[in-house]
Amino acid sequence: MNIILMGPPGAGKGTQAGMLARRFSIPHVSTGDMFRKAIKQGTEMGLKAKAFMDAGQLVTDEVTIGIVAERLGADDCAEGFLLDGFPRTILQAEALGGIMANLGRKLDAVVNIDVPNEALFGRMTGRRICRQCGATYHIAFNPPAQAGECDRCQGELYQRSDDTEATVSNRLQVYARQTEPLVTYYREQGLLKTIDGSQELNRVFADICQGLES
Ligand code: AP5
Ligand code: MG
Ligand code: ZN
Repeated sequence: MNIILMGPPGAGKGTQAGMLARRFSIPHVSTGDMFRKAIKQGTEMGLKAKAFMDAGQLVTDEVTIGIVAERLGADDCAEGFLLDGFPRTILQAEALGGIMANLGRKLDAVVNIDVPNEALFGRMTGRRICRQCGATYHIAFNPPAQAGECDRCQGELYQRSDDTEATVSNRLQVYARQTEPLVTYYREQGLLKTIDGSQELNRVFADICQGLES
């Protein structure tokens, strides 16, 4: 299965992608996670990406398309993949069409996780991530058993540098301007499945699974 998970920042793409990747045994491909990994490793690409990310802006299409093309060609993506956070512009969507054609593959579905703007702010500012394994928590909606500590690996939890109030509001504006047009783009291709992402996270997961099976 080749699936795209779409939705505004904080909608729950990463959370749902983790659960779906386990359910369907396909890799979770997140451009945001790939950039954060490059930043941690201190690569030149990571350094460039960090400036865009901390400002709440998109990394350039050229760089982003390049890393995705390489990633989707890897062996573990041969049986399918779950894209999280890509494409984010019409140009990226068109490039993805080309990458898929080259690989002789087709998109099966674009899952659009719909959450009203009012709810997104608190989701991002309350998010905490495990420094060791990358698991995502929320101080109110999905808290770890022990404050500040990961349930899975006991790693330390931290706050993303782009989850500050100022950057969050930029990210929401960038989404509305550059990414939201993709909803229409994929609806016209008959691939769009919109899910109510304001529900409790297991309910959202059940609705996505049902949407993918129908
Ligand atoms: P990226 O890492 O993709 O961030 P994003 O799209 O802004 O989305 P988030 O990761 O913030 O949210 P999410 O939808 O994954 O929500 P989550 O599951 O964590 O991108 C970061 C940056 O990288 C971009 O700004 C850009 O600079 C760059 N970039 C990435 N891709 C790019 C591209 N293609 N082109 C150019 N630049 C790119 O959930 C959020 C919180 O809510 C968590 O705390 C979670 O526990 C909680 N939560 C989840 N579900 C629920 C629920 N149902 N109810 C209550 N709480 C919930
Ligand atoms: Mg995410
Ligand atoms: Zn962990």
